[in-house]
Amino acid sequence: MEGFEHIPVLLEQTLEGLNIRSDGIYLDGTVGGAGHSSRIASRLSENGTLICMDKDPDAIEAASERLSAFSNVRIIRSDFRDALSVLAEYEGKIDGALLDLGVSSYQLDTAERGFSYSKEGHLDMRMSDSGQTAADIVNTASFEELCVILREYGEERYAAQIADKIIKTRQNEWIDSTVRLSEIVTSALPPAVRRKEKHPARKTFQALRIAVNDEMNALSEGLEGIFRLLAPKGRFCIITFHSIEDRAVKQFFAKKMTGCTCPPEFPVCVCGGKPQAVAVTRKPVVADEKELDENRRSRSAKLRIIEKL
Ligand SMILES: C[S@@+](CC[C@H](N)C(=O)[O-])C[C@H]1O[C@@H](n2cnc3c(N)ncnc32)[C@H](O)[C@@H]1O
Repeated sequence: MEGFEHIPVLLEQTLEGLNIRSDGIYLDGTVGGAGHSSRIASRLSENGTLICMDKDPDAIEAASERLSAFSNVRIIRSDFRDALSVLAEYEGKIDGALLDLGVSSYQLDTAERGFSYSKEGHLDMRMSDSGQTAADIVNTASFEELCVILREYGEERYAAQIADKIIKTRQNEWIDSTVRLSEIVTSALPPAVRRKEKHPARKTFQALRIAVNDEMNALSEGLEGIFRLLAPKGRFCIITFHSIEDRAVKQFFAKKMTGCTCPPEFPVCVCGGKPQAVAVTRKPVVADEKELDENRRSRSAKLRIIEKL
């Protein structure tokens, strides 16, 4: 598909982390432009299988084109939160799974998708083509709901000021443009914050995108489902781009590595759960100098890897 530009992050480290066997079965739950997948597919023999998923129809079109030369690739348009039910026949059989979370450069750069605070477009932000848009949330959510979204998904210190400004503005207009929302957010912030290096609307846009796509619930359901699909010794590689999703992945991996399901407030473990995974890398893998220079998106990327026991 023309115009689908996306440079895969932490590519070599991910390929190594997946520990690819040429006759193995692999899952890429966020295929995007198939940057990672095309390299995984090229390492498989005719006995290997690569299953690719994405919820975005544009990503599915781009990946289908890019992977058309490989006969052992299955491409499925689906949310990875449903991976276990969609791929029930593979339960306990997958040798490696990858989630490269968040949005692709294509989604960010395509103004009409509404993800960008600096490109004029309809305030959409849906990765798939169904469900509520960011404009629906911005124009209908209560003050309290907006504050929760901005605080929880954007870690926005000025959530109340921004929510208040949105509520006042929408009494006179329907807010449905990215740049207009960006202006409203900026005007709600103290001047010193507006002058900071990072864009003042960055956190609001991240928060709305996460809410529109129900990303945190999709992640927690997807993590459990994909872990069940893994075979013994199967690797799970996850690339995150912000602290909220990285924390969720870190906690999920820790839970699988200790096996304990006791509530965090219990002083000692009473559940008797056994470890189900081991860490492949003790610390998250981050981009080296060269990649940081070549690809801005890699600056916030963190790769965590576990192996199922
Ligand atoms: C960072 S991009 C992946 C890029 C890809 N690894 C590559 O190298 O081209 C993330 C992709 O995940 C997809 N995505 C995000 N959340 C998803 C979910 N819950 N289910 C399925 N796809 C999802 C997005 O639509 C996007 O195409």
